[in-house]
Amino acid sequence: MVKFSRRRLLAAAAGLSWGCRGAEVATEAPATESLAAEPPEGPELLATYYPTPLPVVRLMLEMSGLRPGDLLYDLGSGDGRIVLMAAREFGAHAVGYEIDELLIAESRSAIKAADVEDRAEIRNEDLILADYSAPDVISTFLTPEGLAKVTPRLEQTLRPGTRLVAYKFPLPGWTPERVEELVDEDPEIPLHEVFLYRWG
Ligand SMILES: C[S@@+](CC[C@H](N)C(=O)[O-])C[C@H]1O[C@@H](n2cnc3c(N)ncnc32)[C@H](O)[C@@H]1O
Repeated sequence: MVKFSRRRLLAAAAGLSWGCRGAEVATEAPATESLAAEPPEGPELLATYYPTPLPVVRLMLEMSGLRPGDLLYDLGSGDGRIVLMAAREFGAHAVGYEIDELLIAESRSAIKAADVEDRAEIRNEDLILADYSAPDVISTFLTPEGLAKVTPRLEQTLRPGTRLVAYKFPLPGWTPERVEELVDEDPEIPLHEVFLYRWG
C-alpha cells in the first residue's frame, strides 16, 4: 500500500532551480532531395531536460539507502546533479546515461571539478539499451511514456534487491514500497513526490 510517511517544508532559500532546456526543434523544412532518405536511427528522447531540485535529489538518495561503495545509475542524467551528489556526498560509484551532448559535456566538467572522476562517469548511451544487472540503486525522472518504454528492459536485466527511486512519475505497473513528498513554497509546483521500489 502506498504510504505517505514524510512531508517537509522547503524554505524559499532552499536553492531550487527550475531552469529548463528543451530539445532543439528544427524549424526549416528539409531539402526536397532529402525527403526520400530514411532519417538516421537514433536514441528516442524519453524526457526533455528538466533538473530535479537539489533537496529532492537528496531525498531520493536518502530514501534509496545509498551507501559508500554502492553503484547507482541515473537514467537520463541531465547536468549530472544526481551522479555528483551520489559520488560526493554519499561515497557511491555513480553512472549517468545521457544523450544530449551539451549536458554530457557540462556534467563531465562538473565531475572533474568536483574531483570525483574515480567514482563518477557519464555514458553517452541510450538508456533503453543499458544492462541493469550491475547497479544497487537506479534513479529516474522520465515521462510516463518514457518509463513505460524502459520498464521492460529493467524487468529483463535487473538483479533482485535493486532499489529504484523515481521522481514525479511512478513506474507503470509497479507497486512502490514507500512514497514521500516534499512540500514547496512555489505555488506552481507545490508538491514533489518520490517513489521507492525494490525489485524481486
Ligand atoms: C527530466 S531530465 C532529468 C535529468 C536528471 N536525471 C535530473 O533528475 O536532474 C531527463 C533527461 O533524460 C535524458 N534522456 C532522454 N532520453 C534519453 C535516452 N534515450 N537515453 C539517455 N538519456 C535520455 C534527457 O536528455 C534529459 O537530460
